[in-house]
Amino acid sequence: MSAAPLPKKVLPVVLGITSVLVLWIAWGSVCDPEAMWAPGHLSRSHTKVVSCSQCHEPFHGPSAAKCVGCHSEERFARGTTPEVGQRHLVFIREQRSCLMCHAEHRNR
Ligand code: HEC
Ligand code: HEC
Ligand code: HEC
Repeated sequence: MSAAPLPKKVLPVVLGITSVLVLWIAWGSVCDPEAMWAPGHLSRSHTKVVSCSQCHEPFHGPSAAKCVGCHSEERFARGTTPEVGQRHLVFIREQRSCLMCHAEHRNR
């Protein structure tokens, strides 16, 4: 079976629909990337984290190194309960992935 060529009148319609979709995705990505791409809202404590790239490495997904950028050893030493702090100091030093235990985008 050989593909029939598109009738001439169809081409502008296909191009029109394609450009509407492309523009819609581009517009959404700029104006509201969370609604456009994220699987759910960030946790309440992360509502002030403004940009996806603060946790995500482009083309690699979320990165534990980025979590530690904010949740540093100093911060764990200062904040939280001593027990949780101690445990996390060990996690950071052993480079255990935060993502093994912590999730995001669960709308809570
Ligand atoms: C506070 C850190 C954080 C921020 C900010 C964040 N994400 Fe995520 N995201 C995660 C984590 C962690 C996961 C892994 C899924 C899980 O375990 O719940 C994830 C998973 C995802 C996934 C599922 C696919 C995958 O890579 O696992 C998508 C899609 C996604 N995020 C999109 C976004 C978009 C779009 C934004 C910006 C609006 C964003 N994220 C901001 C932490 C974050
Ligand atoms: C841009 C800075 C920033 C980044 C990046 C970030 N966080 Fe946070 N996170 C915060 C702030 C601010 C809070 C609020 C509580 C506080 O001050 O510790 C918080 C709170 C939390 C809490 C405790 C509250 C809760 O929801 O249970 C967890 C767990 C947490 N972050 C895990 C992560 C993980 C895992 C990552 C990496 C995927 C990450 N964070 C990336 C800034 C950040
Ligand atoms: C083995 C599982 C595990 C790993 C790995 C882990 N966490 Fe946690 N984390 C927890 C649990 C469980 C809690 C809740 C502690 C509690 O409230 O008793 C917690 C609490 C937190 C909190 C909130 C502390 C507070 O009470 O204010 C932050 C922030 C956090 N984790 C960040 C991280 C980061 C960043 C990493 C990666 C370096 C990480 N976690 C690795 C299990 C883990």
